[in-house]
Amino acid sequence: MTTTITLVQGDITRQSADAIVNAANSSLLGGGGVDGAIHRRGGPEILAECRALRASRYGRGLPTGQAVATTAGRLDARWVIHTVGPVHQGSGSDPEPLASCYRESLRVADELGARTVAFPAISTGVYRWPMDDAARIAVETVRNTPTAVEEVRFVLFDDRAYEAFARQPG
Ligand code: APR
Repeated sequence: MTTTITLVQGDITRQSADAIVNAANSSLLGGGGVDGAIHRRGGPEILAECRALRASRYGRGLPTGQAVATTAGRLDARWVIHTVGPVHQGSGSDPEPLASCYRESLRVADELGARTVAFPAISTGVYRWPMDDAARIAVETVRNTPTAVEEVRFVLFDDRAYEAFARQPG
């Protein structure tokens, strides 16, 4: 199975996909950016399931680089896959946790049977990861991760992000 990678400029909460990936934080209890938009448009069911996860499997929060699915609430998707990106710590920041966000989100998508997955540019906002490097890590990881997902759609919020992803080879 080959996975098609597509790029879209826009608001991820307006996408139609089997799964929409959230750039969450470890609390799973919401935030700004993509996280805020997904909870705002997706509605309270998403937070209710996040709270249930905190009360069970993730008592101490979702660790960086891991992913977990909930309902997508009112979004045009079946699931939201929440993943926690790393905060950029300056040059020499380890790319592995960011790569893990994409790898683990695809693993969860495969467990669910999701065929189309929409990703934001994880860690490139509040978590300050340089856009070009984040785009390289995202595209390389998706290219190198065996998955049954047929379409990975990167949904970029602005021109800068879109151009960075469009510059990635392959
Ligand atoms: N659709 C698509 N992309 C978006 C949207 C949206 N509605 N809103 C923001 N973005 C883009 C940002 O422009 C950035 O390029 O998503 C990218 C990730 O930015 P953040 O949402 O700030 O996520 P991140 O950098 O991973 O930081 C996560 O921010 O919102 C809090 O609770 C969240 O603590 C967590 C932290």
